[in-house]
Amino acid sequence: MKTKKLSESRVLVTGAAGFIGSHLTDRLLNLGAEVSGYDNLSSGNMDFLTEAAKNGRFSFVKGDVLDTPTLTDAMKGIDTVFHLAANPDVRLGESDSRIHFRQNVEATQNVIEVMRKTGVKNIVFTSTSTVYGEAEIIPTPESYGPTIPISLYGASKLASEAMISGFCHTYDMNAVIYRFANVVGSRSNHGVTFDFVNKLRKDPNRLVILGNGGQKKSYTHVSDTIDAMIFGVENAKERVEIFNMGSKDYIDVVMVADIVTDVMGLKDVKYEFTGGVDGGRGWKGDVRVMHLSIEKLMSIGWRPKYNSEESVRLTAESIVSGI
Ligand SMILES: NC(=O)c1ccc[n+]([C@@H]2O[C@H](COP(=O)([O-])OP(=O)(O)OC[C@H]3O[C@@H](n4cnc5c(N)ncnc54)[C@H](O)[C@@H]3O)[C@@H](O)[C@H]2O)c1
Repeated sequence: MKTKKLSESRVLVTGAAGFIGSHLTDRLLNLGAEVSGYDNLSSGNMDFLTEAAKNGRFSFVKGDVLDTPTLTDAMKGIDTVFHLAANPDVRLGESDSRIHFRQNVEATQNVIEVMRKTGVKNIVFTSTSTVYGEAEIIPTPESYGPTIPISLYGASKLASEAMISGFCHTYDMNAVIYRFANVVGSRSNHGVTFDFVNKLRKDPNRLVILGNGGQKKSYTHVSDTIDAMIFGVENAKERVEIFNMGSKDYIDVVMVADIVTDVMGLKDVKYEFTGGVDGGRGWKGDVRVMHLSIEKLMSIGWRPKYNSEESVRLTAESIVSGI
């Protein structure tokens, strides 16, 4: 991405009060950037921005990315937009087909259109491993195709990627797109680790596990995720650069359950498997095996600090201790 160094930039972070957005905001401020957070607080939490709020280079706008006048105002003077605001719940598509379209596709179209109109040239977008669907090559590289998502969430992110690419090539804009594995860490309020801790708090003797427990996924700690995001933006070469972001390995759901029960100091917890759908998926749209190749980011010098097990353990510890 041909842009100023992030440390000298004015950036807008949509979804700044969310799990990943708040960690990103903290890191960008530490780097020296001027950060404007933008969030409608639908699932975000202002407490996550307590440290940021003490920094004179931080400002916050409570707004929806679909609210064009408010977004246009917030975009003035911005060098780079980190667009994270989204509905990240993969399972939601099962019950409602419109939410991902509106919150991910329409919202992203609005963000990039407002950027175009206000002359902001650089966008960083948080996409997902689910764009690959049930990939036949594991670990899955960025060049894998055809991409056939099996969830509406994955479909909406792939559509958003396509639109960003179209805008960039038509209007001389630049994009870095990250396809994240499962991101975990403090402040995360959804996903399997969070779900297991909550279920075990209610009943420490049994744990209902969606699917057959054999789903294998890669988990990446949010600190590694943010490192990769900063590193990728500063080293991207193409007009539209796509990077997978994950850890070097993957683990199954039973191992996640074992880590969580261990961290909570529980013994002899009875695991009950729902069996799931389609031969072991947790739900319609759940990918059975997800492991992204991170060779592309590693080939330009980035390295993750944590593997999947360590990432889940650190996360369970932070959820349990309330940090
Ligand atoms: N957490 C993961 O494992 C993961 C994996 C792949 C991709 N992602 C992507 O990373 C991004 C951040 O995810 P997260 O886990 O931090 O989710 P999150 O729900 O914690 O954060 C999303 C934030 O966006 C805000 N928001 C939602 N809709 C908005 C709107 N219309 N206008 C303004 N603000 C809005 C919410 O209030 C929230 O603060 C998302 O784009 C998500 O799809 C996350």
